[in-house]
Amino acid sequence: MNSQDKIRELIEKRNTARLGGGEKRIVSQHNKGKYTARERIDMLLDEGSFEEFDMFVTHRCTNFGMEKNKILGDGVVTGHGTIDGRIVYIFSQDFTVFGGSLSETFAQKICKVMDQAMKVGAPVIGLNDSGGARIQEGVNSLAGYAEIFERNILASGVIPQISAVFGPCAGGAVYSPALTDYIIMKEKAGYMFVTGPKVVKTVTGEEITTEELGGADVHSSKSGVSHFKVENEEEGLLLIRKLLSYLPQNNMEDPPVTKCTDPIDRVEEYLNDIIPENPNKPYDVKDIISLIVDDGEFLEVHRDYAKNIVVAFSRLNGMPVGIVANQPNYLAGVLDIESSRKAARFVRFCDAFNIPILTLVDVPGFLPGSGQEHGGIIVNGAKLMFAYGEATVPKVTITLRKSYGGAHDVMSSKQLRGDINYAWPSAEIAVMGAKGAIEVLEGRKIKTIETQEEKKEFIAKAEKEYNEKFANPYQAASYGYIDDVIEPRNTRFRIIRAFQTLSTKRLSNPPKKHSNIPL
Ligand code: HXC
Repeated sequence: MNSQDKIRELIEKRNTARLGGGEKRIVSQHNKGKYTARERIDMLLDEGSFEEFDMFVTHRCTNFGMEKNKILGDGVVTGHGTIDGRIVYIFSQDFTVFGGSLSETFAQKICKVMDQAMKVGAPVIGLNDSGGARIQEGVNSLAGYAEIFERNILASGVIPQISAVFGPCAGGAVYSPALTDYIIMKEKAGYMFVTGPKVVKTVTGEEITTEELGGADVHSSKSGVSHFKVENEEEGLLLIRKLLSYLPQNNMEDPPVTKCTDPIDRVEEYLNDIIPENPNKPYDVKDIISLIVDDGEFLEVHRDYAKNIVVAFSRLNGMPVGIVANQPNYLAGVLDIESSRKAARFVRFCDAFNIPILTLVDVPGFLPGSGQEHGGIIVNGAKLMFAYGEATVPKVTITLRKSYGGAHDVMSSKQLRGDINYAWPSAEIAVMGAKGAIEVLEGRKIKTIETQEEKKEFIAKAEKEYNEKFANPYQAASYGYIDDVIEPRNTRFRIIRAFQTLSTKRLSNPPKKHSNIPL
């Protein structure tokens, strides 16, 4: 074979590898409304930036006549490329090859990109579309998964890891995405479950469809497994690019600052009137967020899950920030099990990747009731407290309205090392609301009052006195727990200046192997 033949052989091999499971299966993939592994990579990365690894890898299995059925690449396309000029590592499962099922060598390919990503400090993106463990390979496939899981674990908090689920993701295979930072699921095509509908029926008798058991809707709104739900793959891939624009490449870097054309001293008169006169009337905290941040833009995480708290990435003067905000529009913004867990995970992610945290507080307290107590609100509320308390990134807190009880302490209070804590004049910072407080403090006396009318009058007077004393920010400000009471219309400027002064913040926690967060 002369050198020309050798080059021709290389080109032929490459062309064969690029066809994956072959044209028929590619058509079938398209007919299911899905792109192929390579098409997805092309759409995601900067044009022409993809460098592929291990195109010539094949499996080593000899069970069930598999030695006669080898496909170049073995069902996963791996390598690196760039997104907005920054390097990322990627693996994209190819459903056209043995249903994207995971073999020993398939796993080794994924581990290779993860190892390289850790060496150079770059994010890893996994595009999932797989029938799970390759049945013919038995325990080698299980071992391959575990190799990936271990790498997911060690990479956590070092490099960002993002998973998209564009097809099946079942059995133990779900645990790799679950160990990553963010999961994006495509509606009606992506599904995740530990045991599928057939096994569910056999074991429990329950009849349930794939979509009802583990579709994007369920995981985005009920389980919280998925952080983002997308209508199509294009949207999912664009979302990955957008998400990465807020993140540093690794935990040793600061997040990327972009040029900001939105005036930092933009005054928003509307904010002075945004809090309703009636303290029990809801409003949408997202309106406040969009009036404060650069160009009104933010990327909400877990939009459909635990809606009583909003978590989002945004920018202030071009600097990425993580925002945590109680949402009075949903369950009055109360803290419950799900919202505590959601926010805790977000705060910890921001802290791991040096993203400053802005907290907007309007919280009536923790949700009372046996459902919450028996479901573990104590341990789950403690997660959020723990996350805020251990975070060392700059933390700016604005109390917009209510900040009551334990929830006041949890929501990035001064004593949990909040760096700069401001309040609007509408803030109410106290142990509890007037109604509950008067019941406790004056209960004995109220019982002795004879007529209903007198009772009502007494309670109204006592509540009024209580509100005058506590339904304001000044008691907290008089102790220095609030650094300043600010005019709402100036909030953008005050926050930006606060974060600017904190940009050189240095704070570290005591040396330890790791903490013991109440999981
Ligand atoms: C080997 C597999 C496979 C698998 C699919 N294929 N899954 N080959 N191992 N796990 C092959 C099929 O034989 C078929 O090959 C091709 O991929 C396409 O599959 P279809 O069934 O034709 O596709 P579709 O109808 O779209 O159904 C997709 C599917 C189904 C729902 C994923 O294939 C399926 O149920 N697969 C098995 C899923 C499963 O139980 N996996 C094990 C989970 S346990 P041909 O040659 O006919 O095209 C697990 C443990 C991991 O993963 C533990 C880690 C700790």
